[in-house]
Amino acid sequence: MKTLSDHARSILAQAYAPYSNYAVGAALRTSSGNIYSGCNVENAAYPLGNCAEASAIAAMIAGGEREIAEVFVMTNGDTPGTPCGGCRQRLAEFASTDIQVHCGLLSGEVATYTLGELLPFAFSLTEES
Ligand code: THU
Repeated sequence: MKTLSDHARSILAQAYAPYSNYAVGAALRTSSGNIYSGCNVENAAYPLGNCAEASAIAAMIAGGEREIAEVFVMTNGDTPGTPCGGCRQRLAEFASTDIQVHCGLLSGEVATYTLGELLPFAFSLTEES
């Protein structure tokens, strides 16, 4: 069976990153056990590019789900890249602070954090976290 890491690795290969050459693949496992994935999609007008996490979240929402249980972000850099600040907030919209966010490299190196470690005091309109 394909692991969350396998899904992130597969989708990283689809990344469109001709400007940064930094390919990212994100895979989300939801509370129902389904996996949604997405890659970064850059644009010649740089600010219009999408992060891999945003693409994966869009796929999850399109699939009718809203609860992220685990995340794997795979990058092609030298050290495991953590989600950018904006993507931490995007993930926090659909996940609790105790979920694991695995940050991996194609080499197999992985660093794991909780979402709460990556984004303490996430912005929220409610008192819940
Ligand atoms: N990128 C992501 O896909 N996710 C992140 O959390 C950080 C950055 C992408 C955006 C851009 O295409 C490339 O990595 C370099 O910043």
